[in-house]
Amino acid sequence: MRIVVTGGAGFIGTALLRALAATSREVVVLDSLRPDVHRDGGLAASARLSSLGVRLVVADVRDRSAVLAQVEGADAVVHLAAKVGLGVDLDDMDDYVSSNSLGTATVLRACHTAGVERVVQASSMVVYGEGAYECAQHGPVAPAPRTRDRLARGEFDPGCPVCGADLDPALVDEDAVLDPRNTYAATKVAQEQLGAVWARETGGSCTSLRLHNVYGPGMPRDTPYAGVAAIFWSAARRGTAPQVFEDGGQRRDFVHVDDVAAAFVAALQSPEPGHAAYNVGSGVVHTIGELAAELSSLAGGPPPEVTGAYRLGDVRHITASSERAAHGLGWRGAVALRDGLRDLAFS
Ligand code: UD1
Repeated sequence: MRIVVTGGAGFIGTALLRALAATSREVVVLDSLRPDVHRDGGLAASARLSSLGVRLVVADVRDRSAVLAQVEGADAVVHLAAKVGLGVDLDDMDDYVSSNSLGTATVLRACHTAGVERVVQASSMVVYGEGAYECAQHGPVAPAPRTRDRLARGEFDPGCPVCGADLDPALVDEDAVLDPRNTYAATKVAQEQLGAVWARETGGSCTSLRLHNVYGPGMPRDTPYAGVAAIFWSAARRGTAPQVFEDGGQRRDFVHVDDVAAAFVAALQSPEPGHAAYNVGSGVVHTIGELAAELSSLAGGPPPEVTGAYRLGDVRHITASSERAAHGLGWRGAVALRDGLRDLAFS
């Protein structure tokens, strides 16, 4: 079996290649080694891939002929290549759309031309926007995006859209309405929809894995696109206090990169007709404040500082049910956060 992994030189890709190395599949990586991610020009990533015996083709997913040349004769494509993270400001907007939406369209078109019928792609929990909430009086509600004024007043939790009362965050499942709140999220929704169109038109199978906050060894660090676990760990090991935005009560589900790799392998083994989406999270919810405290303590450094700063594009809580992946893919996260953070810290 021959598998093409786009973006395979990245953080999740590397874990996936390790997982695939245990199987007898031939793997080709197509990766542009973007300079904003691979700051050493891709030297470390190239060395890693060659030690895994994986062929690296340095090309952008928007390069139609390069993509087609690689997917010809492939049995499946795992599409990970993307510009990730919340971004810096709206100056990033066209790069997100081009990298993620046009990139996906180019990959899907090449799969169609080459007759590849199986695609598994990385989507994100950010497609749900603010996620699911319960109002004691009005039941399940979907709050509007938080306004700048509200955030500036330190009112971080969204209120009930009907009565304004405090809400209880609930778990989102895959049937929730998609409601992207930033450019990156909008491109992930588009990516899923393009996958669904492609599957319908070709009769192929496309699975989108809606990844929660992925962490683990090899996380991108010290870039504007780094995830919070890497940012906190970089601060903690420099002996400085992790800077916690808002009041630290934001809720997330941190899923270890090896668990995510296992989810991709499970999805490859479970093709379904049409398009299917699965939440991929550990199933255990933590606050950002708890994450910061755990990493400070692992580094033996100063405790986190809760700053009250905020980013307009951030959602307050985003926590999902990953039960559908357990039933549909036979996958569950296995790494507990405390163990996974040790893994991050001592790698
Ligand atoms: C993350 C991923 C996104 C993925 C999504 C899935 C990154 C950069 N983003 O988004 O690609 O699709 O999970 O759920 O990996 N924070 C601080 N201090 C900081 C930085 C962040 O307190 O220095 C807070 C933020 O305000 C936010 C939380 O940490 O509440 C998480 O931020 P971040 O790691 O950027 O991730 P998400 O926005 O959840």
